Amino acid sequence: MASRLEILFLVSLFSVLLTPLHCSVFDVTQYGAIGNGSTDDSPAFMLAWTDVCNSSASTPIFHIPGNKTFLLNPVFFQGPCRSTNIQFQIDGIITAESEPSNWKCTRNRCDKWIHFKRVDGLFINGSGIIDGNGKNWWSSGYINALEVTSSNKVQLTGLSFRNNPHMHVVFDSCDMVHISNVSIDAPGDSPNTDGIHLKESTHVNIEFCSIRTGDDCISIVDKCSNITIQNIECGPGHGISIGSMGQYGAYETVENIYVSDVQFKGSLSGVRIKTWQGGKGHARKMVFKGITSLNTQYPIQIDQFYCPHAKCDEQADAVEISDISYIDIKGTSMRKTAVKLACSESVPCKNIFMQDINLSYQGTNASAYCKNVNGTSQGIMEPSVPCLYYQTS
Ligand SMILES: *[C@@H]1O[C@H](CO)[C@@H](O)[C@H](O)[C@H]1NC(C)=O
Ligand SMILES: *[C@@H]1O[C@H](CO)[C@@H](O)[C@H](O)[C@H]1NC(C)=O
Ligand SMILES: *[C@@H]1O[C@H](CO)[C@@H](O)[C@H](O)[C@H]1NC(C)=O
Ligand SMILES: *[C@@H]1O[C@H](CO)[C@@H](O)[C@H](O)[C@H]1NC(C)=O
Ligand SMILES: *[C@@H]1O[C@H](CO)[C@@H](O)[C@H](O)[C@H]1NC(C)=O
Ligand SMILES: *[C@@H]1O[C@H](CO)[C@@H](O)[C@H](O)[C@H]1NC(C)=O
Ligand SMILES: *[C@@H]1O[C@H](CO)[C@@H](O)[C@H](O)[C@H]1NC(C)=O
Ligand SMILES: *[C@@H]1O[C@H](CO)[C@@H](O)[C@H](O)[C@H]1NC(C)=O
Ligand SMILES: *[C@@H]1O[C@H](CO)[C@@H](O)[C@H](O)[C@H]1NC(C)=O
Repeated sequence: MASRLEILFLVSLFSVLLTPLHCSVFDVTQYGAIGNGSTDDSPAFMLAWTDVCNSSASTPIFHIPGNKTFLLNPVFFQGPCRSTNIQFQIDGIITAESEPSNWKCTRNRCDKWIHFKRVDGLFINGSGIIDGNGKNWWSSGYINALEVTSSNKVQLTGLSFRNNPHMHVVFDSCDMVHISNVSIDAPGDSPNTDGIHLKESTHVNIEFCSIRTGDDCISIVDKCSNITIQNIECGPGHGISIGSMGQYGAYETVENIYVSDVQFKGSLSGVRIKTWQGGKGHARKMVFKGITSLNTQYPIQIDQFYCPHAKCDEQADAVEISDISYIDIKGTSMRKTAVKLACSESVPCKNIFMQDINLSYQGTNASAYCKNVNGTSQGIMEPSVPCLYYQTS
C-alpha cells in the first residue's frame, strides 16, 4: 500500500503535469464583470475576448462562472483568433434588459445579441443558461440570441436557452457544426422564436436536443447541405422545417438532409418542406425516419404553395422537390389529413417514397391529400397515399 506521502507526491506531480504552461483560463470576473444581473457586463466580456482571441495558449478558455447572472448588451466576438481551439464555457446565466429600448445596439442593425464571427475551432459548452428576457420583443423584435457566422468546426453543447427575442440559435455560413444536448424553451405563442436555424451551412449534426418554442424547432434554409438531425424532442413549436424557400423568385437549394428519431408533441407541423410559388432551385435528397407524432396538426407536409401572409397565385416557376423518403412515421394527427403533399403543376414533386406510415386521427383512420406528386410506397400505409404507387414486395 502506498504511503500518504507517496500519494501526495503523485497527486502534486499530476497536478503539475495537468496545469497548462501558460494560464489559459480567462474568467470574465477578472475583467470586471459583476454578475449581479443589473450591471452591464458587456465591456468586461469584450476585454476578456480580446485576450482569449489573442492568446497563444493552445486552448484558451473564456469562462463565465456559475451562480452569477451576467447582463449583456449585444456583444460581438470576432475572429480570426490565434488559437483554432477556443473554449467558451458558460456556467452562469446570461441575460438581457427586458425593455427593448434599453438595449445598447452598437451597430446600425440590432439583429444579433451574442455574435461570433470568423472563429474557427470554437467549442461553446457549459451548464449555463442564455435567457434573452425577450417577452417585450415578441411583437416586433428580430434580434437573434446566439448567432455564429462564417466559422468552421464549431461545437455547441449542454447549454439551455430560453425566452429569446427572436431565433434562439442561428448558424449562418458555417461548415462542420455539432450541436448537442441543448434545450430551448419559449412559450408556444411567442412569435418567430425558432429553436435552431441553419442557413448556408454544411456538415451540421444536431442531436439530443429538446426544443419547445413558438416557431420552427429547427429550420433549414438556403444553401444548406449534409445536415444530420437525430434524437430530438419538439413541441410546442412548428416542427422541423425545410424552408421556406424561393420567396420573391429566389433561386435556393437545400439537399442531403437526414432526420431520424424525432418526437413531435403538440407541434403545428411534424416534418415540413415549404416553398413559395415563383421560386427556383431545389429541395432534394432527404430522409425522415423514425418519427413519432403526438397530436401534431400536420405530421407530414410538403407545401409548394407556402404563402402565410398574402394571396399568392400559382406561378410557372417553383423550387423543385425530389427524392424525399418518409420511413417509419407513426402516431396521431390533430387533423384528419395527416399526410399533405401539395405540389405545383408545372414542377411536380418527384420520387417521393413512403414506407411504414401509421398515423391516426382521433382513434380513426387519417387521410392523405396529394396534388401533382409522383412516387412509390410500401409496407404499412395508414393512411394510404393514393398518388404513391404501392409496391407489394
Ligand atoms: C450590481 O453591482 C453594481 C456594481 O458593483 C452596483 O452598483 C449595483 O448596485 C449592483 N446591483 C445590484 C442589484 O446588486
Ligand atoms: C489583439 O490585441 C490587439 C491589441 O493588443 C487588439 O487591437 C486586437 O483587437 C486584438 N484582437 C482581437 C481579435 O481581439
Ligand atoms: C453554485 O453554488 C452551489 C452552492 O454554493 C455550489 O454547490 C455549486 O457548485 C456552485 N456551482 C457552480 C457552477 O459554481
Ligand atoms: C466543457 O468542456 C470542457 C472541456 O472539454 C470540460 O472540461 C467541461 O467539463 C465541459 N463543461 C460541461 C458543463 O460540459
Ligand atoms: C448528450 O446526451 C446523451 C443522451 O442523454 C448522452 O449520452 C451524451 O453523453 C451527452 N453528451 C454530452 C456531450 O453531454
Ligand atoms: C454530402 O452527403 C452525401 C450523401 O450522404 C455524400 O454523398 C456527399 O459526399 C456529401 N458531401 C460532402 C461535401 O461531404
Ligand atoms: C398502427 O398503430 C396503432 C397504434 O399504435 C396500432 O394499434 C396498429 O396496430 C398499428 N397498425 C399497424 C398496421 O401496424
Ligand atoms: C381503416 O383502415 C383499415 C386498414 O386499411 C381498414 O381496414 C378500415 O376499414 C378503415 N376504417 C375505416 C372506418 O375506413
Ligand atoms: C408521374 O410519372 C409518370 C410516369 O413516369 C408520368 O407519366 C406522369 O406524368 C408523372 N406525373 C406527374 C404528376 O409528374
